[in-house]
Amino acid sequence: MNKLILVLAAAVLWFSAAAQTPQPPPAPAQPIPFNHKLHAGNLKLKCSMCHPNRDPGETMGIAPASVCMQCHSAVKTDSPEIQKLAEFAKSNRTIRWNRVYAIPSYVLFSHRAHLAAGNTCVECHGPVAEREALFREVDLSMTGCMNCHRVKNASNDCTYCHEER
Ligand code: HEC
Ligand code: HEC
Ligand code: HEC
Ligand code: HEC
Ligand code: HEC
Repeated sequence: MNKLILVLAAAVLWFSAAAQTPQPPPAPAQPIPFNHKLHAGNLKLKCSMCHPNRDPGETMGIAPASVCMQCHSAVKTDSPEIQKLAEFAKSNRTIRWNRVYAIPSYVLFSHRAHLAAGNTCVECHGPVAEREALFREVDLSMTGCMNCHRVKNASNDCTYCHEER
């Protein structure tokens, strides 16, 4: 009898905890279903192959289709998705990927400064190499930025992240 009450109490606790966990937003649909788990996980491709931190270092960028074609001119050429990819490369068109982590332009942010300070991709984007489709699983709202700044003793002055007017 006591056991049953314990099990019921545990179940109630578990359900209420599950109900309180905010659900992350779903992965946005992409023009081509690119899979990080396959490419960065299984094939162990370096992040920098597709995300070079070009000068002045604010953005990582996303490689154009021509980089994909280094493999896909030979790999999986019978796939309709790869044929779509080949079309982009042939006509030199930009693939309009739907953004996962985008912050408003009035916020100051530099990848290079953060990487130089020892922050990692995983801290801000989660275990990307284990994800088939990326979704916004890490909180990079103002609160999210400030929480990490608090923990790592970086400034939380308004003008650190927002230009003075
Ligand atoms: C301190 C947090 C942080 C770290 C560390 C970080 N990122 Fe980001 N990342 C962001 C934010 C914030 C954005 C959105 C930037 C924007 O919209 O201007 C972003 C955007 C991106 C983008 C979209 C293109 C762009 O540059 O806007 C890619 C790709 C990316 N990150 C890859 C990476 C990779 C690869 C690493 C590790 C080498 C990494 N990020 C490390 C926070 C971070
Ligand atoms: C280093 C080589 C390499 C690069 C670079 C590469 N891929 Fe791939 N890709 C592969 C391999 C290997 C597979 C798995 C093929 C299989 O299932 O037999 C694959 C599979 C795929 C598939 C699944 C195709 C299907 O129908 O099953 C898509 C879509 C894809 N890649 C898109 C891309 C895109 C977009 C890029 C560039 C951003 C890219 N790949 C860059 C090697 C690569
Ligand atoms: C073969 C190319 C390739 C490799 C390698 C790769 N990526 Fe990507 N990445 C892409 C493409 C294509 C997109 C856009 C589609 C998407 O969001 O899945 C993207 C999107 C992203 C985004 C979301 C950017 C945004 O805000 O929209 C992040 C974050 C990211 N990659 C991080 C990483 C990290 C971290 C690694 C290494 C562990 C990595 N990527 C390795 C091709 C690659
Ligand atoms: C994972 C932890 C972490 C997250 C998340 C994070 N930061 Fe930072 N940030 C740092 C650290 C550490 C520094 C370096 C502090 C130093 O050098 O004193 C830094 C430095 C900065 C700087 C000054 C860098 C420069 O250009 O000199 C700005 C601006 C900044 N962060 C803005 C942001 C914004 C905006 C976000 C959210 C979109 C964010 N940070 C998210 C850890 C983080
Ligand atoms: C560590 C970086 C950081 C610091 C410090 C910071 N902000 Fe922000 N702030 C952000 C980011 C990132 C956003 C954008 C959030 C989003 O909408 O994605 C933002 C958004 C805002 C907005 C627009 C909010 C909205 O709801 O539209 C205002 C206003 C603002 N910040 C004011 C401030 C003030 C005032 C301070 C000082 C108390 C401050 N911020 C400090 C990063 C920061």
